[in-house]
Amino acid sequence: MFKWREDFSVNIKIIDDQHKELFRIGNALYDIVSIKDGIDRYDEILEALYSLRDYAIYHFDYEEQMMKKNDYPGYFEHKKQHDEFIRKVKSMDEESIDKDQIKASMDLIIFVANWIENHILKTDMEYKDYLNNKGIF
Ligand code: FEO
Repeated sequence: MFKWREDFSVNIKIIDDQHKELFRIGNALYDIVSIKDGIDRYDEILEALYSLRDYAIYHFDYEEQMMKKNDYPGYFEHKKQHDEFIRKVKSMDEESIDKDQIKASMDLIIFVANWIENHILKTDMEYKDYLNNKGIF
């Protein structure tokens, strides 16, 4: 589901590592949702979702501080995307996950996987040369 490729690299090690960690947490969530043993996994699913949300908040904050410190001109537009993503993940309906765990969780995983992939490949990639040119790798 979440698969790292070289073209996700922004050539800044700590950011690449954080993106890989986001993928790892996303995959852990996918694995829980994919278990087909009929056992109620509501608590486990929510715990994995919260881990993903909390790590995304941590990563976005780190990235934003880095952009701000280096006067990156696209900072506000970039931050707006982060805020919108967090708002969406926070608004996930816990009740609907409880009622239909597999479908609600899969819908969310697909949304998160697509969002992260598009965001890294397009928006994060836009700061790559700017920050690399400032000596940040
Ligand atoms: Fe790596 Fe803008 O999130």
